[in-house]
Amino acid sequence: MTITVTPFIAFFGATGGCTNACLVHTLNAGYNATALARDPVKLTQMLFDQGISQEVLDDQLLIIKGDISDLTAIKDVLTNNTIRTKHIELARQIISGVGGAPTVNKSLTKPVAIDHPEICAQTTQNIVQALTEIHFPDKPSITVISTTGISDTKEDVPFMSRFLHKVILADPHRDKKEMERIVTENTSPKGVFRGAIIVRPSLLSGDHNVKTGQGWKNLRVGTEENPAVGYTVGRQDVGEWIFEQVVKTGGENHFGQRITLTN
Ligand SMILES: NC(=O)c1ccc[n+]([C@@H]2O[C@H](COP(=O)([O-])OP(=O)(O)OC[C@H]3O[C@@H](n4cnc5c(N)ncnc54)[C@H](OP(=O)(O)O)[C@@H]3O)[C@@H](O)[C@H]2O)c1
Repeated sequence: MTITVTPFIAFFGATGGCTNACLVHTLNAGYNATALARDPVKLTQMLFDQGISQEVLDDQLLIIKGDISDLTAIKDVLTNNTIRTKHIELARQIISGVGGAPTVNKSLTKPVAIDHPEICAQTTQNIVQALTEIHFPDKPSITVISTTGISDTKEDVPFMSRFLHKVILADPHRDKKEMERIVTENTSPKGVFRGAIIVRPSLLSGDHNVKTGQGWKNLRVGTEENPAVGYTVGRQDVGEWIFEQVVKTGGENHFGQRITLTN
């Protein structure tokens, strides 16, 4: 079988604020994309609300309905697989902002629980598994949205919010750490990813609306060794930063980095 490589970007978690904003910029700039969505109508409506036309959706975006536990759906997203395509295409980049939904409990020891406490690790592991089964000669890069507060190298959250990060958010942070481990372990030369960028935003504020952000150039940007320490960052600005620094450029300058983003 002839394999034709055309650049498109595969999105997971595109109904989430950061990733949706990134997808809007991606489509507006004319790139092709695929996206996994549990509820395609929800994703479509979010894109319409941001001014993306039906024509752009038809021409540039393939939405695959499915859950992150569905390996077939993941493979379809990674290969742009649809009955319309006559050849296999491969994602050049993967962007994942999948995350669980928080629920507030009356417990003093665990006031915040996550509906699926291993969702980020499971998503990443399933993407690795899907790529392993697809067997393609080229490798995509991956960008995952992790969090500040999990660094073993340097403190990257302000003193006043350390209790929140270390105690209240312990479960989602454990999940993010495992996700980062899986990403790192599966990055070249032996792994399924050509390169990996781990984005660690501080506490997220705002939503997916790209018209309401402060702008990616106004963010403070750090690395694991020299983190940008702050309290919050807008979802739309995180999405825009990923678009500008990864989607547009290929992201090679940031491969292997853990990027902290904050206001
Ligand atoms: N909250 C914070 O302050 C904070 C700080 C740092 C990092 N983060 C992390 O940053 C990431 C992005 O956050 P965000 O607020 O932009 O997005 P979000 O609202 O957490 O969105 C999560 C995304 O994951 C999808 N998802 C959840 N379970 C899924 C499943 N089983 N199968 C397929 N998709 C599934 C959701 O789809 P549905 O629409 O179908 O639910 C949604 O698209 C998350 O991982 C979050 O935990 C959060």
